[in-house]
Amino acid sequence: MTQAVFSNAEPVSPNSSNVGVRLTDVTKRYGDKAVVDNISIDINRGEFVTFLGPSGSGKTTTLSMIAGFTQVTEGQIEIHDRSVATVPPHKRDIGMVFQNYALFPHRTVAGNVAFPLERRRIAKPERKRMVDEALEMVHMTEYADRSPKELSGGQQQRVALARALVYNPAVLLMDEPLGALDKKLRDWLQSEIKRIHLEVKSTFLYVTHDQEEALSLSDRIAVFNNGKIEQLGTPQELYQAPKTLFVGTFVGDSTLVRGAGFAATNGFSSGTAFGKAVAGKGSLAGDQGAVLIRPEKLQLRPVESSIANGDCAISVIVRTATYLGNAWRYELILPDGSAGMAKSEYEVVQAVAGQAMLATWRPEDAVVLEDDGSAGEFLT
Ligand SMILES: Nc1ncnc2c1ncn2[C@@H]1O[C@H](COP(=O)(O)OP(=O)(O)O)[C@@H](O)[C@H]1O
Ligand SMILES: [Mg+2]
Repeated sequence: MTQAVFSNAEPVSPNSSNVGVRLTDVTKRYGDKAVVDNISIDINRGEFVTFLGPSGSGKTTTLSMIAGFTQVTEGQIEIHDRSVATVPPHKRDIGMVFQNYALFPHRTVAGNVAFPLERRRIAKPERKRMVDEALEMVHMTEYADRSPKELSGGQQQRVALARALVYNPAVLLMDEPLGALDKKLRDWLQSEIKRIHLEVKSTFLYVTHDQEEALSLSDRIAVFNNGKIEQLGTPQELYQAPKTLFVGTFVGDSTLVRGAGFAATNGFSSGTAFGKAVAGKGSLAGDQGAVLIRPEKLQLRPVESSIANGDCAISVIVRTATYLGNAWRYELILPDGSAGMAKSEYEVVQAVAGQAMLATWRPEDAVVLEDDGSAGEFLT
């Protein structure tokens, strides 16, 4: 597969471009292994872009090259139209937040936030004003005189955010900043980070392996796999129109009907539906395709139901039926033994654990992808 070049479609004036961060053919090699493999991406000024991918896919290395902590092996990085090849980290106009807060233990909260201003030789009255403003932004004003060890993890991370933003950097880089926090705190801080992004209008570049976090935070998401960006798109684009099986299964829940599995089993109640679905979407042979259906597009019906003309169907076993308050979620087992999922606002009559049912979908609601073997491990 050739590497796609991703670029935004924003109009660019002749004098200043809209690009906040641009990577052009960037590669990082350790020995002869390319851990970041020829990636190109344009991130707009003021945009919130997330690098999403499994552990080891090259997200941190890419962020670290943008920050200047890791040398680029090949390629160019520009921040606000300036090549940063020879610019040291502290002169790149970036702020950085890591997973492990990294606060100075012997400085107060205010002292921590003041640190980057001291290094930049900002005069004391101005410094005080900027620290106050930054602490207010993260709602930590009343903790200004505390020491970091008197704070919870969530509070420490808010101080780290204030310290990274206090000098108003053009770009804020965050590497799994909420990774060490429990789910409730993480959800709350996610909405805080969103609010702060709207307030400061800097470019935010965020790294996570958590697809829900990526979907809820980002203007666009770059999906990393094996050192490459497999797809760059809005959350909607990735969810509704994934370009690869990896992206489709890594982002969001789905049911995957695979050609090879189809050929190998006789459990499909509608023998030609799968072949038709694949054939209708391109040039894949029946056993080279995979059909991906999102949970809300899959309907469960009694096995003896008649299927609407043109719809596709497979027989499934309901593994679990779970009431979520606003919907029901059904975990399914497909004829080839793989897992699937359906979601419905209304309780599907008869869909109890152990029940055999028919799962149907409209062909236009499914995405047909090449079955390159990249799915499976991420399916629930
Ligand atoms: N200093 C290094 N030396 C050798 N290999 C490294 C080094 N840093 C990272 N790697 C390797 O590069 C790959 C990508 O790592 P990383 O960018 O940290 O991934 P991610 O942040 O997506 O989990 C991994 O296989 C990792 O082991
Ligand atoms: Mg990492």
